[in-house]
Amino acid sequence: MLYDTQGPFRTMVDENTGQVDRSIFADQAIYEVELERIFARAWNFMCHETQIPKAGDFFLSFIGEESVIATRDKKGELQVLLNSCRHRGNAVCRAEEGNARSFLCTYHGWTYGLDGSLIGVPGYKDFYHEQLDKSQWGLVKAGKVASYKGFVFATMDPEAPDLEEYLGPVGRMGMDLLAEKGNLELVGGVQKNLIGCNWKLAVDNLFDWYHSQISHASAFISGFRPQLEKLSPEDQELARIADIGAGGARTLQRAVLGAYGHAIGGPRLTKIEREARAKLGDKVEILLYDDRFRELPKAQEVLGEVGIDTAGHPNIFPNLWMTGCQLALRLPRGPSTCEIWWFTFVPKEVSEERRKVIIHDANHLFGPAGLLEQDDGENWDQSTRAMRGVIAQRYPLNFQMGMGQTPVTVNEGVSYIDTSINEHPQLWTYRAWAEWMDADSWAQLKQTHSAPPKAGDLI
Ligand code: FES
Ligand SMILES: [Fe+2]
Repeated sequence: MLYDTQGPFRTMVDENTGQVDRSIFADQAIYEVELERIFARAWNFMCHETQIPKAGDFFLSFIGEESVIATRDKKGELQVLLNSCRHRGNAVCRAEEGNARSFLCTYHGWTYGLDGSLIGVPGYKDFYHEQLDKSQWGLVKAGKVASYKGFVFATMDPEAPDLEEYLGPVGRMGMDLLAEKGNLELVGGVQKNLIGCNWKLAVDNLFDWYHSQISHASAFISGFRPQLEKLSPEDQELARIADIGAGGARTLQRAVLGAYGHAIGGPRLTKIEREARAKLGDKVEILLYDDRFRELPKAQEVLGEVGIDTAGHPNIFPNLWMTGCQLALRLPRGPSTCEIWWFTFVPKEVSEERRKVIIHDANHLFGPAGLLEQDDGENWDQSTRAMRGVIAQRYPLNFQMGMGQTPVTVNEGVSYIDTSINEHPQLWTYRAWAEWMDADSWAQLKQTHSAPPKAGDLI
């Protein structure tokens, strides 16, 4: 047995038998603990630095269900401020993004500086008789704010480890798989939409390479995504080398498991496949267009031996997913609703033609108009509905695929397995979820969270 932490939430995730209690997707009380113990404690992704380059630039983001303002103050420092006036709680910023000199509350006019300090109070002399201690009534500030290669994160908990330590080698690898694509620029307009599902089902699915051929059959049948028999001879050759099935699901899979629940799941991309692709050059436009950065010396140096071959989907615990040139947040909106945000990046180095392909795919794969996300969202919605019932909740979900089959390899401080399609990243995520939920503080979580599996462990 690899895991020994026990507590009330640990009983809901049984990694030894591969079973997860359905109530964690439906129960209001459990959801409220998630807001407290996961979202109010974790490092949450806010925005990209290119969204707020100048003093006064701001972008409204969320920590759990709470609106926060990510901004840059007059000194150029990143600030993350709770968007709630200290007087009667009104939101002090209504625009989703923009530039401001200060944040004026529209209720009674308290005014806050870009660093959150309370700088203006109507009636300070006549009504408050100069007795209000303004230094104590600034906007609530994040406990820590930091940027990793331009990606801005914040945690409300000052006891959280620093961002780089929180990410650890697996979280950093996940971020690097996007950051090393080039000099990234955000495409204007973050896509936002609601799906009637528990946020964890959306996270679970990002690791899921089992569903594509069934869930996304219509996308392949429609011709939107190429079917193997219809590919050009060059693509067919590449697909053969890369062992890509008609549904895009390769059999060579890698699961990378990190501390605090970070994980990467999906295909690996070996040197042989990369060399084959390099020979095909521009002809392999459709299948794997966003992986050429792996040939860059800097990417190879940063990603290392393990990362350079890792082509699956990273999740930065709890809810940040990177895929292609996009990044998605799965924001909780109650146990049965999730708000999905999509940020799309284009490396400045790419041609205009490639830029168009990246933006086209961003609009048509995921997001509200995305063919794949419509397929996925429908399933997550139905799973959420069908798990609400008292009878349904008597029966656990099954995560037994590939259990106990593969010894762990540890290389460059990263634990991973190379195997076929499996559910290890999902089970790892739920296990971390239980550990976060059982811990009543960062101090405890640091003690009780599971270390990544050791070399030779059979998982
Ligand atoms: S609620 Fe903001 S000034 Fe009163
Ligand atoms: Fe999908």
